[in-house]
Amino acid sequence: MPDPFDIWIAKLFDRWLSELTHQEVARALKVLSRDYVQRRTRLRGKALEGRGKQAAFAMYYAPRHFVIVREALKALTAPTDSPSEIIDLGCGSGVAGAAWALHCGGNVVGVELEPDVLREAAFTFKDLGVRGGGVRCHIAKYRWAKPPVGIVAAFTVNELDENNRERLWRELEKQTKGGSNVLILEPLSTRITPWWQDWSERVVALGGRANEWHFDVKLPERVHLLGKSAGLKPDKLGARTLWLEPRPKGRGVVAGNNQD
Ligand SMILES: C[S@@+](CC[C@H](N)C(=O)[O-])C[C@H]1O[C@@H](n2cnc3c(N)ncnc32)[C@H](O)[C@@H]1O
Repeated sequence: MPDPFDIWIAKLFDRWLSELTHQEVARALKVLSRDYVQRRTRLRGKALEGRGKQAAFAMYYAPRHFVIVREALKALTAPTDSPSEIIDLGCGSGVAGAAWALHCGGNVVGVELEPDVLREAAFTFKDLGVRGGGVRCHIAKYRWAKPPVGIVAAFTVNELDENNRERLWRELEKQTKGGSNVLILEPLSTRITPWWQDWSERVVALGGRANEWHFDVKLPERVHLLGKSAGLKPDKLGARTLWLEPRPKGRGVVAGNNQD
């Protein structure tokens, strides 16, 4: 049986490379990485303008995020702990929810502001064989499902302003107490997440885990090559995570700064 991940990557590259060349996407990826990653506080909201940058995000960052979420889930939770619904906040191409659904099953609901990336998410779900759909709305306006569900926010919480971040925290706390699992991922560098330490302490106080991961896995060859062409470091795969799960009675706090 072919791996759904390989099928998705093949279709993703075929689709975008029928519109743009490898060189065009690599050039856009270079600009996107400079603007979005290095100068993002200045460019918030405008970073994905243009087809080249959309292709660059879809073909490089989305597969990269998929692999990071997949590896984090493998380390954090058993494939049997399956939520029936997975809410993917700021879903972009939908890769975080899809990685969770492939890890242990479940239906994905992607919450996203941008219609173009929601269209990309529909391709992701279809090509990976995951049941999923998107809701176009601001995270602050999302009408939350009744717990228990799985909630993932991959590289998204840093895009919220303080009010919306705090509002989200209150909802996540409520959801966890109702039996939901929560996974938050952000880059290893805390430059764009000055709130990380504070949230880590809150998560640990609720019995969750705060971790820092460095994964020894390879990206697919075509994704790797694209990253190389844009002058990036596709071999370096890692993230910080916050993980909240319903605490079984009598279990102590599991927390710390593990390295994988
Ligand atoms: C860095 S991307 C990450 C996308 C995806 N989670 C991933 O890991 O590849 C952040 C996404 O969050 C979305 N986003 C930012 N603020 C949002 C908000 N307030 N409500 C819904 N989506 C939001 C952006 O449009 C963008 O697609």
